[in-house]
Amino acid sequence: PTFPPSATMEVLISKEQIAERVAAIGKQISADYAGHSIVLIGVLKGAAIFLSDLARAIEVDNTFDFVAVSSYGRARVSSGAVKLIKDIDNPIEGKHVIIVEDILDTGLTLSYLRGLMLQHKPASLKIATCLDKPERRLVPIEADYVAFSIPNQFVIGYGMDYAERYRGVEDIRLFPDEAVGH
Ligand code: PRP
Ligand code: MN
Ligand code: MG
Repeated sequence: PTFPPSATMEVLISKEQIAERVAAIGKQISADYAGHSIVLIGVLKGAAIFLSDLARAIEVDNTFDFVAVSSYGRARVSSGAVKLIKDIDNPIEGKHVIIVEDILDTGLTLSYLRGLMLQHKPASLKIATCLDKPERRLVPIEADYVAFSIPNQFVIGYGMDYAERYRGVEDIRLFPDEAVGH
């Protein structure tokens, strides 16, 4: 693999465009939760970078926590497709919670996590995602805050990986099909 990403990895969304949308979502969340405290729950590892930017764009009192999941065979529709590897550290009962994701793809991860978090009886539960690929959805779930909706193209950067690489790339870039396996 090449690092830094080569010119063949075309920029789909620039870091400036990302910053603009993160700021806008931060403002929207600040308005929606004015006077409240919120808990941001990031889904490791992809959401780490979006969460760190979003937390700094939110002007209401907030804390954050992380969960980790492992998914088996993303193409398979199964209620047991996702497994919790790391739970939240602090209770969320009665709290206003926003699950933060880098990308909403088939929806299996978020529909599993939403069900799991609802069992903790939060005061409210919403979802914020940097990217949404609506064409790929296998289960019906939508995010409340979406920075960008994109077609079904493989992307890296801003937390998103190819084989764990490129998460630190500042722009969101198209990962060329011919590079898969190299
Ligand atoms: C990716 C992404 C989301 C999930 C979305 O995570 O970060 O968490 O897949 O896919 P879905 O909507 O089809 O469930 P991945 O499993 O690649 O782990 P990572 O965040 O550590 O890269
Ligand atoms: Mn993830
Ligand atoms: Mg990944």
